[in-house]
Amino acid sequence: MFDIFHFFKEKKIPNTFAPLRTDMHCHLLPQVDDGSKSLEESLGMLETMKAVGFEEVRLTPHYQVPRFPNKEDDIIRRFENFCAEVDARKGDKDLPVMKGVSGEYRIDSGFRGRIENKEEMLTFRFADEKKGSEKGLLLVELSLHQPYMGIEQVMFDLQMAGYDVVLAHPERYPYYDSHSSELEQLKEQGVYFQANILSLDGFYSESARKKAFDYIENGWIEFLGTDMHNPMYAKALQHAACSKKIIQLIEKEEFENKNLVKE
Ligand SMILES: [Fe+2]
Repeated sequence: MFDIFHFFKEKKIPNTFAPLRTDMHCHLLPQVDDGSKSLEESLGMLETMKAVGFEEVRLTPHYQVPRFPNKEDDIIRRFENFCAEVDARKGDKDLPVMKGVSGEYRIDSGFRGRIENKEEMLTFRFADEKKGSEKGLLLVELSLHQPYMGIEQVMFDLQMAGYDVVLAHPERYPYYDSHSSELEQLKEQGVYFQANILSLDGFYSESARKKAFDYIENGWIEFLGTDMHNPMYAKALQHAACSKKIIQLIEKEEFENKNLVKE
């Protein structure tokens, strides 16, 4: 039977983020971090991501010892199983295509060892092979509480090791302000920044909201991501998709997300 209420409910969510095409920061892989708890949760989040305009998603589970002691081999295996399960369960639902899995690596005292030991980390790439570095784009995050001393050196070492670095949600770090000289330094070093879409809608705090807009105005933000963790984020993403200010921003600004389309 045609469900008219469902029809209108679906129609109300605008595909605001279609110009981005691909989400490059989300925690949809079940039970590996503080993101999705189950396949059902992930399916629901994927449905919302498609509704707001994403054609493709790239999964980025946390790597942070000892809290999330994930190993790349295991994550790849889980991702392959997850894709098969989603395919088997999605029925006639139109969901975004899962384009790969990489990670969100926490820069902390344990992280330096990864560089020194030349551990291969999971990345994603620009569609244009001439763009970007040999090993691809590595998504990293910092503590939400205190700055990491020597961050410039870590970024430099990563770049020397062949990675392009994307700093996740700089607007969420309370120790950086709207015109932070530390962040400016990272931009001068060629570090990419990714802001969270939900920050733009005030999901985390008023301060993060303001800084997200300020950083975009500074010309510092190359990527946007959902950083989707659970169904509450999916609801918030629907809300963000209806925000006039965010709709205008997406129409006006160019982001690099769409250039991650091809393998
Ligand atoms: Fe994240």
